[in-house]
Amino acid sequence: MSLRTITQIGNTVRADSAPPTITNVLKLDSKAELDALAKRLLAPAASIPPKYFYDEIGSTLYNAIVLTREYYPTRTEAAIFERFRRQIAAVIGEGKQFVDLGSGDSVKAEKWFASLKPSRYVAVDISETAVADALARLSGLANAPDLCGLITDFSRVLDVTPVAEKKPSVFFYPGSSIGNFMPDEASWFLRQIRAHCATSDCGLLIGVDAKKDKARLDAAYDDALGVTAAFNLNTLNHVNGLLGTDFDVHDWKHRGFYNEAFGRIEMHLEARRDVIVRIRGEARSFYRGERIHTENSYKYAPDQFRALLTEAGFSDVHLWQDEGGDFNVFYAR
Ligand SMILES: C[S@@+](CC[C@H](N)C(=O)[O-])C[C@H]1O[C@@H](n2cnc3c(N)ncnc32)[C@H](O)[C@@H]1O
Repeated sequence: MSLRTITQIGNTVRADSAPPTITNVLKLDSKAELDALAKRLLAPAASIPPKYFYDEIGSTLYNAIVLTREYYPTRTEAAIFERFRRQIAAVIGEGKQFVDLGSGDSVKAEKWFASLKPSRYVAVDISETAVADALARLSGLANAPDLCGLITDFSRVLDVTPVAEKKPSVFFYPGSSIGNFMPDEASWFLRQIRAHCATSDCGLLIGVDAKKDKARLDAAYDDALGVTAAFNLNTLNHVNGLLGTDFDVHDWKHRGFYNEAFGRIEMHLEARRDVIVRIRGEARSFYRGERIHTENSYKYAPDQFRALLTEAGFSDVHLWQDEGGDFNVFYAR
């Protein structure tokens, strides 16, 4: 544990200590990254990787999406965690290093602190603002574990060694973020987590959305308030800031729907009219109705995902579900 000064304020005990260390290995603005982004926008089937959702506004909008009536995954996952928390904690065991992949505001992770009593909390995210805010908040908690942050893009490679210690760990990947990878990429990602498990006393707690009725899925990714639409459209502003492009949000509309053939949600930005966008000195014409693909979110039947875990080298797989079978929580080691 790091050294802390304990301050008593009324009934609250606050720990004052040096701010948590945040290590930034991210090169989102590196020339190679920006070249790759420009190439994707200039390609005949244009796309933007979902990691570009998450600038400061994007992270805030994500936190609003999970509050919308239509977006069931977060509240269903939370209900499974609440209902089975003791059981899940008993399987995982206390005192491990807790590595939170795509930690965002760290609110989900914090709820595990009391039952898992982690020795260390490692917040891993692409958004430095999100991690800095979350760790600042957590460092004010009484009995907070050691806190540290890693700013990285784990869609390129998952390497937590700059900050994580070689000790029994639980990797936490909630919110069905695994669905943003194509199934073969998901398998690659899971294998990397498995490879990080230096000892056998290490595992992965992961939330995975299930396949279900198209109408519910369509609504979840195209809410009536337009919060998901704003989240998707904001990507264009983020890209403008990074790449110097001149996308005008007014020229585009959000599309989010379930593609049953692929078993995935697709999000796109669709041109409202013919538009020309300057991308690295080139004029890219988009015709009315043309789409930029911004996200996939694959949905998995429990057995399908269990097979992915097994292929990745996990052998002991536990599953918890809500009564409706809308969402699955796995712990695998
Ligand atoms: C859907 S949010 C989930 C946040 C939180 N874990 C939860 O479940 O509520 C996804 C999080 O992953 C982060 N993220 C997205 N792509 C990433 C990438 N390629 N590398 C690292 N973090 C990423 C985002 O910044 C965001 O905080």
